[in-house]
Amino acid sequence: MSYNNIETALIHGGISIDERTGAVNVPIYQTSTFKQDGLGKMRGYEYSRTGNPTREALEALIAELEGGHAGFAFASGLAAETAVLSLLNSGDRVLISSNVYGGTFRLLSKIFNHFEINYTISDTENPEAFEKDITPDVKAVLIESPANPLMTITDIRAISEIAHKHGLLVIVDNTFMTPYLQRPLELGADIVLHSATKYLGGHSDVVAGLAVVKTQELAEKLAFIQNSTGGVLPPFDSFLLIRGIKTLGVRLDRHVANAEAAAKYLTEHKAVKSVHYPGLPTDKGYEVNKRQAKNGGVMISFELKDNYDINTFFESLKLITLAESLGGVESLVCHPSSMTHASIPEEIRKKVGITDGLIRLSIGIENIDDILNDLEQAITKSEVK
Ligand SMILES: Cc1ncc(COP(=O)(O)O)c(C=O)c1O
Repeated sequence: MSYNNIETALIHGGISIDERTGAVNVPIYQTSTFKQDGLGKMRGYEYSRTGNPTREALEALIAELEGGHAGFAFASGLAAETAVLSLLNSGDRVLISSNVYGGTFRLLSKIFNHFEINYTISDTENPEAFEKDITPDVKAVLIESPANPLMTITDIRAISEIAHKHGLLVIVDNTFMTPYLQRPLELGADIVLHSATKYLGGHSDVVAGLAVVKTQELAEKLAFIQNSTGGVLPPFDSFLLIRGIKTLGVRLDRHVANAEAAAKYLTEHKAVKSVHYPGLPTDKGYEVNKRQAKNGGVMISFELKDNYDINTFFESLKLITLAESLGGVESLVCHPSSMTHASIPEEIRKKVGITDGLIRLSIGIENIDDILNDLEQAITKSEVK
């Protein structure tokens, strides 16, 4: 059954009940294989790499939430990306947004290049510049909006229209927004990707990836790749994700309210040089983001002025944890240039604006006063006198 209101679909969408027993949660089918009643007589499942009922429930759920034809669950966001990029052939080229997750860059520059699948960094914020980058070998575009870590916004509808004019596949990494805040397929994309490790899981306790495709044709191709390459999500982790997704709406409402307050606080702070958050009316991506997403999301990056020492800032934080990742209920902070984006060569980092002073915040759902007090005391301590 499908539901128009996403708050309801998060809980009851896809396959939410175990038909055989009536259990209100789909059980963890912890099995690798399934009995066949005779040669070629399967009961819908044969082997858990090919299909597992718990994973299938998750896949049906994410397909419904993103408004796609089919969903696929993988062992990590990068496994999902690997499967999707495997739709390309050698000699093909993919255009990528100018700041994407460092692991995406590493996957293309260090793995897919072995198969002569090439990439070009393109300014997808600027549709005209993007169109100029489309050479005959370009077959796909991979967008992040907001992009990691500078929160730059790409007009997904405009890029999709241009891309489709040239026959390209439009892939959007929707990790930072989730279908609760933004639905790229409705804006024209062909495939949506997620590091479900982040908001969809929501509790920093599972590593997972999801992909949703718009058409039957893409679904058949991706199902073949998923089964042939095998990076599938195990049943227990599929269960954890289904459980996490049920509370996505309430978590994100609180996350976003906290993020808006934190962005305002940072913007008004005398120690802060720059703030990147598409929910701020002063942000350059604000208008486009407002057209395509419910709000500015949760992720913020910022720089302190030169007379503040970022090492002291990181070491002084008491509540906000210095760690890779994002999207959990707890507030996390990271230093993109040495952590999440270290695999991007320094000259490219500099060119796209990922400075050594950039700090990325994943605002959690703690009490906002506690979050702001922690930022304040760490900023105060980090001032070089
Ligand atoms: C935007 C984005 N895409 C993809 C990934 C990769 O996902 P995973 O770590 O689940 O492999 C990440 C991880 O941080 C990410 O932030």
